[in-house]
Amino acid sequence: MYIVFEGIDGAGKSTQIQMLKDWLEANGFRVETVVEPTESEVGDLIHKILQRPDAQTDNVQNLLALLFAADRMMIMDKLEDESKIIISDRSFISSLAYQDNAEWVGVLNKYAKRPDLLILLDLDVKTSVARTSGEDTFENEAFLTKVRENYLNFSKDYTCEIIDATNGVNKVSSDIKKAVAPYLGICPDCIP
Ligand code: TYD
Repeated sequence: MYIVFEGIDGAGKSTQIQMLKDWLEANGFRVETVVEPTESEVGDLIHKILQRPDAQTDNVQNLLALLFAADRMMIMDKLEDESKIIISDRSFISSLAYQDNAEWVGVLNKYAKRPDLLILLDLDVKTSVARTSGEDTFENEAFLTKVRENYLNFSKDYTCEIIDATNGVNKVSSDIKKAVAPYLGICPDCIP
């Protein structure tokens, strides 16, 4: 099973992924986590380009879409490992939301793996900016408003659970476990 976490910056994806992983392992599942962008050479290049002051322009966004798609191709084998539950911090759905060019992103990600389950950690933009430094190019209100809107639209195309990420860490974690349990045949009573 390929479970993808998505959400705007500051939604708490990495914390929640670790908590879900620990819980699934305690329930006897084998779990592997992946993060996009990856730690590959392409990932390094992506991080450099994300720092550019013109990172939000259409040309640079279209370039980034290419790099994100290439970066994703580099971990395809991992994503296709059916012996484990794969939990991913972001996927091509981030490209749909952030690069905001569905046609181009669709072409580039023709072979990208679609999630079996999408967990969208939904957060209002003001809380996102307050939780993050607010200094990165992608962490400003107008940009993130569009990203959040895209997420809510594109999530309809997938098996998706939308989780309110404004709550405290433990409440969000418990909501995620409740959402994931039926897909894995875990009894609801096992959820702390
Ligand atoms: P990073 O600092 O690694 O992630 P995070 O802030 O989630 O910890 O930078 C990832 C940034 O790249 C994040 O702002 C989202 C963006 N992104 C895209 O724009 N398109 C994509 O396809 C992916 C995977 C990420």
